[in-house]
Amino acid sequence: MFDQLNALPADPLLGLISAFQNDPSPTKVDLGVGVYRDETGHTPIMSAIKKAAKIHLDTESSKTYISPVGVPGFVSGVKKLVLSEQSAALADNRVAGLQTPGGCGALRIGAELLMRMKDDVTVWLSDPTWANHIPLLKSAGLKLASYPYFDKKTGAIDFEAMDTSLAKLGPSDVVLLHGCCHNPTGADLSYEQWQRVTERAVNQGFIPFVDIAYQGLGDGLNEDVKGVRLLSENVEEMLIATSCSKSFGLYRERTGSLLIQTKTAVQSNAALTHAQDAARASYSMSPAYGGYLVDLILNTPALRSEWEQEINTMARRVKSLRSGLLEKIQQRDIDKDFSFITSQKGMFTYLGITKEQVHRLRDEYAIYMADSSRINVAGLNTHCLDYVADALESVL
Ligand SMILES: Cc1ncc(COP(=O)(O)O)c(C=O)c1O
Repeated sequence: MFDQLNALPADPLLGLISAFQNDPSPTKVDLGVGVYRDETGHTPIMSAIKKAAKIHLDTESSKTYISPVGVPGFVSGVKKLVLSEQSAALADNRVAGLQTPGGCGALRIGAELLMRMKDDVTVWLSDPTWANHIPLLKSAGLKLASYPYFDKKTGAIDFEAMDTSLAKLGPSDVVLLHGCCHNPTGADLSYEQWQRVTERAVNQGFIPFVDIAYQGLGDGLNEDVKGVRLLSENVEEMLIATSCSKSFGLYRERTGSLLIQTKTAVQSNAALTHAQDAARASYSMSPAYGGYLVDLILNTPALRSEWEQEINTMARRVKSLRSGLLEKIQQRDIDKDFSFITSQKGMFTYLGITKEQVHRLRDEYAIYMADSSRINVAGLNTHCLDYVADALESVL
């Protein structure tokens, strides 16, 4: 039977990882994979996580299954982290929540839920979007389309084009929005633009599906969710996929959640039974470990404040690398305007250079990035900024 399967081409990003690892250059720089790195290039375990893990080790008394809904304190903690303690939808019990294997699991269970609607749902994705959105949603069977988002010439959002596209949508459409720190472009909606999108969702009845995987790594834990909160306050129904991979550094622990906001508490309970049913039909029971750690952090004041300080420090580091890189570029004889680097948010930036230039950076300077020229800003460090700027000057 399996002789029918021919090997698939290697995943380009995974290929980039092994090419980087095998590169003997002492000055190599990895700007490819989207994980946070410290000044030494390491992806550390946050100290609040280490402390929570010790507490958990001493207190966990069983490894029996938890339910498909996950760790209750995690789910309620994440709801408040994203929507705030004051959320009216939470007070009305209109938001169901389910712990999932990472943000990917949340996106996939959200997609399964949308597949259960009688309407022929279309999910609209920003152009460009995180590459994995497409297989995650498409393999559930959803119809996908895209709305214009990023203007490569300016390095900013083409909001007029996006708005014109949203103006045509209606109740059987779902619009996937990045809550903050847009991946891959780093270009985020301004508050005024979130207001416009909210008005459109309210008036036209399309459903927002917010993917929030970088809360705290842009402008701050509350700032980064202003748009999501605005939507939640104004629309009746929406979906939110959260991830603890970056914000808590829990990548391999696969910790995320799907939040489902509905019109009534009864509908929210019904939606949760469907989300649980979809989980049962796939991975069955929720992973527990990451959920327990995040529960401890969010609900223990000392751990929470330590975590908040850590994530603020991470965000500050990324911001200072952005301004550091821009400064070095501006000191060189480079015609292209890179000032968008400091107006974009989070870990990613599209450099907006050609594939040939990306390959020259890799082959001649051992600077690794995706062919699209998306860089992970956290992969830079204060010592390599001059080197990267010199290399850019040379290939441009
Ligand atoms: C935009 C976006 N959404 C969701 C995720 C999902 O992350 P995970 O499944 O690791 O929690 C990622 C991870 O890179 C992402 O960039």
